[in-house]
Amino acid sequence: MIIAIANQKGGVAKTTTTLNLGAALHEAGYKVLLVDMDPQANLTLGLGINPEGLPASLYHVLVGERRADEILRTTPEGDLLPSSIELAGAEIELINELGREATLKDKLAPLVGRYDFVLIDTPPSLGLLTINSLNAAGGVLIPMQCQFLSAKGVQLLLTTVDKVRTKLNPGLRLLGLLPTMFDRRLLLAKEVLSEMQERFGELVFETIIGNSVRAAESPIAGQSLITYQPNSPLSDSYRQLAVEVRARVGAEPALQATR
Ligand SMILES: Nc1ncnc2c1ncn2[C@@H]1O[C@H](COP(=O)(O)OP(=O)(O)OP(=O)(O)O)[C@@H](O)[C@H]1O
Ligand SMILES: [Mg+2]
Repeated sequence: MIIAIANQKGGVAKTTTTLNLGAALHEAGYKVLLVDMDPQANLTLGLGINPEGLPASLYHVLVGERRADEILRTTPEGDLLPSSIELAGAEIELINELGREATLKDKLAPLVGRYDFVLIDTPPSLGLLTINSLNAAGGVLIPMQCQFLSAKGVQLLLTTVDKVRTKLNPGLRLLGLLPTMFDRRLLLAKEVLSEMQERFGELVFETIIGNSVRAAESPIAGQSLITYQPNSPLSDSYRQLAVEVRARVGAEPALQATR
């Protein structure tokens, strides 16, 4: 199953969710590929890889200079297709290409059979990199910060998902909305969460990701929370999310986990 983690709003925990959901699925025994489609390369950095030191990144794959398996990196938390700042240029270079929305999908095709889950981290925009990610995916997971509910922002995102589904990728499913950075001490956070649940009903995951400074510490260590703080409540939340995602996509239990 290929899952795009998307929200054009910045700083809502897309990258944190990609990294830690991936790590939780990996820990449960699934074969996981993480794909960093954001030129900011925060996912790459979060796995302890310096994007500036890489000979090639997803940019070179998207413009046809490298194959995806040539840039693949193995990390203790799963495999990674790393990003670099050059990826920002791919958006412009692809714009005149025929089939420009399907580039990522085509480039990933030879690899996806090796994995149970492919998670794609997307940039905070609805540009060509995000559209490519949605077009390659079977499901989209939308992290939403519990501090602020932008009805228009969410609507724009859902409309975009609908458009991709009708025009490009009929198999694309909305997997769910994930409440992130929930601070139970704040009335506003509770209000935003209940508004989210009222408006989107069962689409909202039962897992709620709490607000915690730990979330900012682990990327600096170049590890997921699951590795950096295995016993923290946040790690447990991401493990719970992994169970929910598995149930929503109807995935088989991992072979390794059932042994
Ligand atoms: N549960 C959390 N509690 C507190 N801080 C968090 C939590 N999750 C993420 N953060 C912090 O919030 C910031 C934004 O998170 P993250 O980079 O994952 O968001 P993003 O949506 O990927 O951002 P961008 O749109 O820039 O790609 C980071 O500094 C991260 O460490
Ligand atoms: Mg990010």
